[in-house]
Amino acid sequence: MKKIIAPSLLSANLAFLYRDIEMLNESEADWFHIDIMDSSFVSNISFGTLFIKYVKKYAHKPMDVHLMILQPERYIEQLKGCGADHLHIHYEACIHLNKTIFSIKKYGMKVGVAVNPHTPVCLLQDIIQDIDFVLLMSVNPGFSGQKFISRTYQKIEDTKDLILKKHSSALIEVDGGINLENASLLFKNGADILVAGTTIFSNKNPKTIIHRMKLGNN
Ligand code: DX5
Ligand code: ZN
Repeated sequence: MKKIIAPSLLSANLAFLYRDIEMLNESEADWFHIDIMDSSFVSNISFGTLFIKYVKKYAHKPMDVHLMILQPERYIEQLKGCGADHLHIHYEACIHLNKTIFSIKKYGMKVGVAVNPHTPVCLLQDIIQDIDFVLLMSVNPGFSGQKFISRTYQKIEDTKDLILKKHSSALIEVDGGINLENASLLFKNGADILVAGTTIFSNKNPKTIIHRMKLGNN
């Protein structure tokens, strides 16, 4: 278990984005998580490629990009050009998932497959050996500030079993509704990476929250 923290910029104060980027650079956060939405796969619009490009200019940590868009294969080359280090594509949004995974790898990026709360992890059995991350959505994607779905604990178990069975080295990332209480439990249960937005950015001392989250200290 790695205990990686990836704060989601969806909850940052965009009027003071540079300040929040600097805060994350100075903090114990490991990655910058950036949520890209297209208003089709999810009913929200967030950031585009230009946003990634500008964050990359000042961020000193890997850019973990979560694509909540249909047919993400259309943007792989462009996202690489903007500085994405990891691309997460949704199982539900890809017709040719295997092809898209290998295309992302060809561009030198790490690849994760995200699954919605209703999607069983067993559906990843034929690609689990080819990916770097499984991104378990612990809320329905599209918005920050939602309630954590506790069935996610079972999905972590299912993912660990699948990883073992298939001799995969994929890491388990969990995204949505994460707070200090469930963060320590999620790490104990086998999550490697936690994405958190509201809990980090709504606090007056975000660096302390990141520190405590990493320690598994609630
Ligand atoms: C939701 C996004 C998350 C979101 C998490 O669709 O994928 O990354 O920013 O926000 P919180 O931590 O507030 O649930
Ligand atoms: Zn996300």
